[in-house]
Amino acid sequence: MAKFRTLDDIDVRGKTVLLRADLNVPVKDGVVTDATRIERLALTVEALVGKGAKIVVMSHFGRPKGKPDPAFSLRPLVEPLARAIGGRDVAFAQDCIGEEAKRVVGALRPGQVALLENLRFHKGEEANSPDFARALAELGDVYVDDAFSAAHRAHASIDALARLLPAAAGKLMQAELDALTAALDRPARPVLALIGGAKVSTKLDLLRFIIGKVDLLAIAGAMANTLLLAQGREVGRSLCERDMAETSRQLLALAAERNCRVILPEDAVVATELAPGVATREVEIAAVPQDAMILDIGTKTVATIGAALDGARTLVWNGPLGVFETPPFDCGTTAVAKRVARLTRAGKLLSVAGGGDTVASLALAGVTNELTYVSTAGGAFLEWLEGRELPGVAALTDAARGSER
Ligand code: 3PG
Ligand code: MG
Repeated sequence: MAKFRTLDDIDVRGKTVLLRADLNVPVKDGVVTDATRIERLALTVEALVGKGAKIVVMSHFGRPKGKPDPAFSLRPLVEPLARAIGGRDVAFAQDCIGEEAKRVVGALRPGQVALLENLRFHKGEEANSPDFARALAELGDVYVDDAFSAAHRAHASIDALARLLPAAAGKLMQAELDALTAALDRPARPVLALIGGAKVSTKLDLLRFIIGKVDLLAIAGAMANTLLLAQGREVGRSLCERDMAETSRQLLALAAERNCRVILPEDAVVATELAPGVATREVEIAAVPQDAMILDIGTKTVATIGAALDGARTLVWNGPLGVFETPPFDCGTTAVAKRVARLTRAGKLLSVAGGGDTVASLALAGVTNELTYVSTAGGAFLEWLEGRELPGVAALTDAARGSER
């Protein structure tokens, strides 16, 4: 991965720093239900405060389609942001560009923080408009990007703006990139990828890329049903993609060619309906009843994945292994998550996980803080697992190169 600058490489004393954050957090009835993204921004804000910068936080929130919409205002995040940064005051600007933004930013003294209204209230943001980026650039002297989870969007505050001001990665961006690089670019081997989720079709690019990168690939969740079916197994009424049989066989052939060992479920927890606490049975994969659905991995599969984890030095995990939202079908995912946590604690495994459902299932297992790194990114994490260049990372890398010339 090419180099980008970090907070250590830029002088921000007395300067106004435009800090691109991802405050696109889940909110229900005006209350933030998961503040992880806000809390993880604190390190960067504290570092900038310590260096005597004036800090202007900007973010998108939801998808307001380029016009102001109170339902997507960032104002409700002023309080949670203030709390996350040790109770410091956070000023709020009702527009992210123009006179209102200039007035609020102009009133900041070194060490003070302002939050700008939703960037996506302007069409220029998603259009990566140079004019909109220039209007943002007018507000500050330096650009810091701490929004890894939005790095897959080539939007003005992520791409065009990074090319207009001296630019650097914030601490969260740096931590995400360090963890992801350690897991896939120069990992300790063997590397195990644990991939779950519903569909092979949505993770085709990911599977193709990862097969070339890892030593072992364990697949579970409904997407494993599609692969089992392609191998001639009967999966009863389980969720699966019958039209993906040929593609699935190609994936398995590619894995064989690349010396990537594929672990598929050998047994499963099945039921005839999906509801909390329904009657379940554990069966061999060869014996899934016609009227039943596979809803979780079984004991033998948990043990096989566990043994693979014991032998691995690095783990990349995306996707739950069963229908974890509906107990008892969370048991397989939870058992594996606990094993990952134990091995990581013991210093035997470097574990990196990401994706919305994955993070939720780790939280359910109570081990979120026990993995080496849990990414706050959803889409960006997936695109990185597909081997794609993320526009937000590319912009920082280009900016660093430009400054060397
Ligand atoms: C996310 O939550 O994945 C990021 O904030 C990006 O949001 P978007 O999918 O609306 O671009
Ligand atoms: Mg999203």
